[in-house]
Amino acid sequence: MMIQHALIEARDLHKYYHIKTGLFQPNQSLQALSGASFDLYAGQTLAVVGESGCGKSTLARLLTLIEQPTAGQLTLDGIDLATANKKEVARQLRKTVQMVFQDPFGSLNPRQKVGDILQEPLLINTNLNSGERREQVLAMMRRVGLRDEHIHRYPHMFSGGQRQRIAIARALILKPKVVVLDEPVSALDVSIQAQVLNLLIELQQELGLAYVFISHDLSVVRHIADQVLVMYLGKPVEQGPSQVVFDSPQHPYTQALLSATPQANTNRNRQRIKLTGELPSPLDPPSGCSFHPRCQNAMPQCKTTAPVMTQNGDLSVACLLIN
Ligand SMILES: Nc1ncnc2c1ncn2[C@@H]1O[C@H](COP(=O)(O)OP(=O)(O)O)[C@@H](O)[C@H]1O
Ligand SMILES: [Mg+2]
Repeated sequence: MMIQHALIEARDLHKYYHIKTGLFQPNQSLQALSGASFDLYAGQTLAVVGESGCGKSTLARLLTLIEQPTAGQLTLDGIDLATANKKEVARQLRKTVQMVFQDPFGSLNPRQKVGDILQEPLLINTNLNSGERREQVLAMMRRVGLRDEHIHRYPHMFSGGQRQRIAIARALILKPKVVVLDEPVSALDVSIQAQVLNLLIELQQELGLAYVFISHDLSVVRHIADQVLVMYLGKPVEQGPSQVVFDSPQHPYTQALLSATPQANTNRNRQRIKLTGELPSPLDPPSGCSFHPRCQNAMPQCKTTAPVMTQNGDLSVACLLIN
């Protein structure tokens, strides 16, 4: 039997940005992502969840080679990005890893017809002739639930859900192994969300795709996630198998996120926990555990000691109450 390698191996990924805070102020360092680690295999979905600003899109940009990590190790489809010959490998891996964004309005060229949007990657990356390209474009359009006559239409002539189908078709046309989906259904009505989620699940099963599915809303990822990574202010706080995270979350932040989304909270007896207080600025994160000012269970040491991710049963949790 062939041993399957992880399509993504992320080890302690960090990304810092240098920010100008004022004309005569020194540059400040903003820790957009500190310490994300996971393995992702074919056919599996890692859900990355947390409130706005917690570093989800930053992680997406590292995984899709749009930006390089400040520290940590990233291996994509068996290739260590730090040791590999950068340009050649990046070219190759851009086909392996594709991305779908929240806003198809922004990510689809409004002046291109659907047919041109979808054949462009084939034109750049393959030697297919125009007939073959058209055939592949039509096959992909059918696969995502678009009709043949849509090939001549412009993005603005479609509904939000259909536009997201076009974006998914474009991401899949080069047969990637990994798709990073950054809030792919957040801009859609709830009924349309379910349709697009079902399409993504079908495509994953058919094609054996690995997904990194990013969402600020835990309830959205319930049926698609195999693993869940919960982040707060750039740091992973809880991570593990989806079922365990949803059934018995350990970190107070995950518990609060879950009780904020009634659809996700299937345990009706669970006490509702409110997330109070403002999200702190990542330029000036709280001392100790950065969640402590909003945590109902905070202890005195939470102000001074930063918790580290520690394995506890099936889950890894960064919380002094538990570790
Ligand atoms: N290019 C950038 N330069 C400076 N700061 C950035 C940049 N991109 C993101 N950030 C900051 O990094 C943090 C994480 O952002 P982001 O990854 O977009 O979060 P999310 O996608 O979870 O909302 C935020 O505080 C954001 O303001
Ligand atoms: Mg984002």
